Amino acid sequence: MIAAADLAYRILYRGLLSRLPERIAIPLGQWGLRLIPIDLVPIFRHGDPQLAVTLGGVRLPNPLILSSMYYDTTILRRAMGLGFGAVTTKSITARPRPGHPQPNLVRIGTAEGPGLVNCNGFQNPGLEAYRRALAGLPHRVPLIVAAAGESIEEYVEVVSGLAPLGDLVEINISSPNTTLVYAWSRKPSELARLFQAVRAATAKPIIVKVSPDYRDANEEQIIPAALEAGVGIVNCGNTRRVEEPRLSQKAGGLSGPALFPAMLENVRRLRARFGARIEIIATGGIDTPEKARLALEAGANACAYFTGFITRGPLLARRILDGLLAVRK
Ligand SMILES: Cc1cc2nc3c(=O)[nH]c(=O)nc-3n(C[C@H](O)[C@H](O)[C@H](O)COP(=O)(O)O)c2cc1C
Repeated sequence: MIAAADLAYRILYRGLLSRLPERIAIPLGQWGLRLIPIDLVPIFRHGDPQLAVTLGGVRLPNPLILSSMYYDTTILRRAMGLGFGAVTTKSITARPRPGHPQPNLVRIGTAEGPGLVNCNGFQNPGLEAYRRALAGLPHRVPLIVAAAGESIEEYVEVVSGLAPLGDLVEINISSPNTTLVYAWSRKPSELARLFQAVRAATAKPIIVKVSPDYRDANEEQIIPAALEAGVGIVNCGNTRRVEEPRLSQKAGGLSGPALFPAMLENVRRLRARFGARIEIIATGGIDTPEKARLALEAGANACAYFTGFITRGPLLARRILDGLLAVRK
């Protein structure tokens, strides 16, 4: 049954979605996800209590997280029934943002497999409208609310507003699509103040999402400053900045399997350097059960993906969870 459903998605993706232009395939995929209640179908989930983990003291039924991309609460509600142990909202900003003009997402073939490059630019409805939307979302699994901003005051505003509606809070200091957010990694002393300010704004566990483009700064300045402020969960990490002439901004964030080897190495390095002082979410190119297992074995407490959800389909979570249980037996 699982194999048949998996094959059906592969045929749909390879035969239709991956052939349509991105500007048609993306709305079509999201429309399908909104309209068809696939979260009611039990094959997507795995309820084995052996899979449960904790993150910042919050219990997740399993270590798989849907990474930040969707703000639509219908899609987030569906994702909560598709095997994930937690789901993340898109990074929300204080004011609504239209995002960057089209084309802002393109597919890319890499030696490691199918990926994406985006310059989404934080298209989102802004804090106040999103607070209203999230208020009606049941937490079938924990919800990670994500915040981005261009000043410390903006992060504090968004964190204070969203934290009561989430179980954990993610601070995005690493998206390469808006210069001001990406630039945070180059301002470690201001980042230290940012961490302290957001820490004071909520008692919920805080995750800092770092960039794969700033490995040394992450290890030497950013994570120590986060720890000093009491921010102990590190999501490593975001997309990698690349030039991409097909995008409206001529550059964007690369996601998908090309990120995986460096991400795995980063997880190993961070675990070796910071030991049990940090909890790690491994994000970047996880699109097979084997990669999820390797990330967890390298020291991650949980692993997250977005691109794999598109390229491998909604059954990937179930396949990963089956794989994780199989190695325990
Ligand atoms: C279209 C798109 C939009 C994204 N939006 C966000 C965002 O708002 N905030 C964020 O922290 N990461 C965002 N990401 C990055 C993903 O959450 C993830 O960190 C990245 O894609 C690497 O994981 P993957 O290889 O599994 O996709 C986005 C990625 C894509 C492809």
